Amino acid sequence: MATFRKIGILTSGGDAPGMNACIKAAVNKAYALGIEVVGIRGGYAGLMNGDLVPLTQQSVSNIIGEGGTFLYSSRCPEFATEEGMRIAVESCKKHQIDALICIGGDGTFRGATDMTFHGVPSIGLPGTIDNDITATDYTIGLDTSINTTVKMIDCLRDTCESHARLNVVEVMGRHCGQIALYAAIASGAVAVAIPEKPFDEAAVIEKIRMLRKNGKRSMILVVAEGMVNPDGTPYSETLVQHLKEQAGIDARFARFAHVVRGGQPTVRDRTTASDMASRAVELLVQGKSNVVMCELDGEICAVDIAFALVADRMYKNKLKEGDLDRFTPEQIEQMKALIEKRKREIDRLYQVAADVGF
Ligand code: F6P
Repeated sequence: MATFRKIGILTSGGDAPGMNACIKAAVNKAYALGIEVVGIRGGYAGLMNGDLVPLTQQSVSNIIGEGGTFLYSSRCPEFATEEGMRIAVESCKKHQIDALICIGGDGTFRGATDMTFHGVPSIGLPGTIDNDITATDYTIGLDTSINTTVKMIDCLRDTCESHARLNVVEVMGRHCGQIALYAAIASGAVAVAIPEKPFDEAAVIEKIRMLRKNGKRSMILVVAEGMVNPDGTPYSETLVQHLKEQAGIDARFARFAHVVRGGQPTVRDRTTASDMASRAVELLVQGKSNVVMCELDGEICAVDIAFALVADRMYKNKLKEGDLDRFTPEQIEQMKALIEKRKREIDRLYQVAADVGF
């Protein structure tokens, strides 16, 4: 058993609905185990600057249903330097922070593994709307962002029906198409474009022409922001132009952007966040660190951060020289199995979107 006086909590990278639920659960679990908690404001930058706020069960008692992160967030390239790391470790010593819970995406986990390596045991929680962490089936924030996206598309649907229009909707997700896929299915979109799959624009335009000829007035077409032209510009805007020119349809465009990052977290995000955060504190006290909490087949588990980060790089075909050297053949097989699972998931959702998109 590790003996901690104080645990620090931080949120880093793009914020996600459910981060506050993570914070609340971690604080309550820590206090139940007699451990003090300090909030670190502004992610790793806050750790380096010593921007801390003591957290009590009272101070987090009503945040479970609040969007965003009340500890604020940042992207902090300075932290990735040796000097930044030294300052962060010094800050933990100065403020008697014995361990860290780091909530965010893959960049956050790299920071957590660095802190563990430098003697500050850390555990990552997957807080990102993108659901782009290969090692976990689910990242906190996805469900809320999909629901927000579908609510907004439903509103667009009303006006498209009134005016017989097609609306192209671009949604966030960085290089991952899951928000787009789920939103397309749930909103009855006629097509969806995601970076994981080839997009047959001509066939989609033909389908749109046919649907319009058969009397379909309103149409929605969802495009993930990761779909870009060869020059890196957003494909969504190009597609709207082509639809106007080639489909003879009144096509409009909406970029939902950061709207889908806000809003009150759904029950799914609140409960998953609470479960993962509470387990993370338990594991820290049991002496476990350098892991990220994951959900696999409905179970919450801890996955070694190095394994999770290399699995991500394998999924993105960005393995570096020597990445696999530290892993056993069984672990490498596990990575490959996870990647197959992620690809099957995308294939299945993409087929559903195609089957129901009329
Ligand atoms: O990673 C979450 C995310 O919302 C992505 O979907 C998006 O591409 C990115 O963050 C936007 O980053 P920023 O908030 O820095 O503009």
